Amino acid sequence: MLDVTNLSSGYGDVEVLHDINFSVESEIFAVLGANGAGKSTLLMTLAKLLPLRGGSLTWQGTDVTQTRAYDLTAAGIAYVPQEHNVFPDLSVAENLSLGGLVGTRPKDERLAEVYDLFPRLADRKNQFAGSLSGGEGQMLAVGRALMQDPKLILLDEPSAGLSPKFVDILFEKIADARANRGVSIVLAEQNAVKTLEVADRVLVLSLGQQHLLEDAKALDRKQLMEAYHI
Ligand SMILES: Nc1ncnc2c1ncn2[C@@H]1O[C@H](COP(=O)(O)OP(=O)(O)OP(=O)(O)O)[C@@H](O)[C@H]1O
Ligand SMILES: [Mg+2]
Repeated sequence: MLDVTNLSSGYGDVEVLHDINFSVESEIFAVLGANGAGKSTLLMTLAKLLPLRGGSLTWQGTDVTQTRAYDLTAAGIAYVPQEHNVFPDLSVAENLSLGGLVGTRPKDERLAEVYDLFPRLADRKNQFAGSLSGGEGQMLAVGRALMQDPKLILLDEPSAGLSPKFVDILFEKIADARANRGVSIVLAEQNAVKTLEVADRVLVLSLGQQHLLEDAKALDRKQLMEAYHI
């Protein structure tokens, strides 16, 4: 689906990611790595919110290296940032509704599906998004991405700051979205243990370098720990 070839990226004069190569198929594709490894930079580059410095991106056979972010959204890629991923002054329903501006299926149908997946959001549909708990806010961010009827979601560290119970619920929902809606997911995470439970394949970044690309089940724990400098 998404082919990444010799990608490099960064900010100003600083190159953060160097020569990254992988393809995302119909799967949950995890991106693991320590703080500052470059996970968010990679997802922002894939979403075209940061320009590539080198290399190319292909989406479903079309070169999208120069494509603008909003055209990529229309082509079926949804992006959920690590932080500030909901509109705090809008209600839950309004946030979801904004996601529904992309795509063609009736909005009500999609809204019903998201409320079915996250009943907590249905209970709080008239509440301001800014007054949700951390876990509820992450559910809303994922729900809004699903409202776009995407083929691929770029999901940046959804478990950050959540209690273990909420992490369990959220990962269950991510696996559910993958299994029952056929959406592929690039999942950037710190939480290696939970991520390896749901991921098909794993890319491990270490200081902006591609340290390892492996089937989740075959991942060598020692190599994983090396990437975290443990
Ligand atoms: N806006 C920016 N300007 C300059 N450097 C940045 C910027 N954002 C990130 N960086 C640098 O890029 C590197 C990678 O950061 P990035 O946020 O991609 O890491 P991460 O793997 O997502 O970390 P975390 O797990 O803490 O979210 C870091 O060295 C960081 O300081
Ligand atoms: Mg990050």
